Amino acid sequence: MTPTKRIAVLPGDGIGLEVIPQALKVLAAAGAPVETTEFDWGANRYLADGTTVPANGFAMLEREFDAILVGAFGDPRVSTNIHAKEILLGMRFKMDLYANVRPVCLLDASLCPLKGVEAKDIDFVVVRENTEGVYTDAGGVFKQGTEDEVAIQEDINTRKGVERVIRYAFDYCKKHAKSDGTRRNKVLMCDKSNAMTHAGGLWQRTFKEISREYPQIKAEHMYVDALCMQMVRDPRQFDVIVTNNMFGDIITDLAAGLQGGLGMAASGNIHPGKTSMFEPVHGSAPPIAGKNIANPMGAILTTAMLLNDLGFASEAEKIENAVLDAVRQKKTTQDIGVGTLGTKEVGEWVAQRVKRG
Ligand code: NAD
Ligand code: IPM
Ligand code: MN
Repeated sequence: MTPTKRIAVLPGDGIGLEVIPQALKVLAAAGAPVETTEFDWGANRYLADGTTVPANGFAMLEREFDAILVGAFGDPRVSTNIHAKEILLGMRFKMDLYANVRPVCLLDASLCPLKGVEAKDIDFVVVRENTEGVYTDAGGVFKQGTEDEVAIQEDINTRKGVERVIRYAFDYCKKHAKSDGTRRNKVLMCDKSNAMTHAGGLWQRTFKEISREYPQIKAEHMYVDALCMQMVRDPRQFDVIVTNNMFGDIITDLAAGLQGGLGMAASGNIHPGKTSMFEPVHGSAPPIAGKNIANPMGAILTTAMLLNDLGFASEAEKIENAVLDAVRQKKTTQDIGVGTLGTKEVGEWVAQRVKRG
């Protein structure tokens, strides 16, 4: 018998508190041998008792859980965003979840704002470096509040960090097929090495070197500005994209737009062999929170990624098929333009569809 896998659940703030219960309903319907434990880390807890991450919280997650499911963090009452930084970036950095994998897959042509694009045309993945770059928050502000104020935000790129994420992207390309079953065969490295020469140089050299180990995979390069234009003009050309932390953040919101918006996009923060963390790409969306209108599909598809990571591929596939069916039958929230249901009703429909098989 497969041993039960343990999943820590952190719904977080805003719409995270609405989409995660729907994702859990669907997860339960899929029937994989998993048990979930919820944690209240987030703005409410922080405002109540000042806790962001409880003592030894990350060590506890690693020791006691096989995977983590997260909603979103961010609350207008916490203007410093300190809790989000300590919890979300804390997990990514302190648990060393170095590959942020963000698939971009168009389920139905109706979801894409571009003309003449069919579902099969958009099926790529962005592998975002997740532990370095400008996100390390190294730097400082000097002479604050004076006319001589100086703000420095360092961009930290290490050989080890760049190499491992590039290697992850090539391995991903080798091991994962597209959703129509065809092989992946290209890895594109995206940077701004024409202007940011020090960091860009390291990425360029490392990419060239690692790509030689994968002669069957085509290695390509694009500057990030040109890539944004190409993503809108011709997204068919992309397969696997690897990039740094900040460019990865930006281009995956753009890419989410191609697949129906932020409500549709899933992600995994992964360190192979360790407890990894899975979350929808969207944030806590305060203006729409508490209204039962947030799209739960990004969170639901995130549970499919999580199940795949735990080795439950057939249960993951059931979830993906049910979401696809919901889109085709217009059983969706309004943000993607095809349906009229609420967050809970979409979750319920998808869960029932998963149960029917
Ligand atoms: P956001 O992703 O919350 O929202 C951006 C836009 O997309 C808004 O118009 C929102 O209504 C819409 N949207 C997002 N998710 C949706 C969904 N599931 N269904 C329907 N519409 C959806 O980004 P933001 O507004 O820039 O940030 C809000 C807060 O969330 C901030 O505090 C930010 O720091 C935080 N944030 C957290 C995460 C995370 O925890 N992973 C990610 C991004 C932003
Ligand atoms: C994301 C978010 C985060 C990021 C924020 C909330 C710090 O935008 O997960 O994409 O920039 O990584
Ligand atoms: Mn983002």
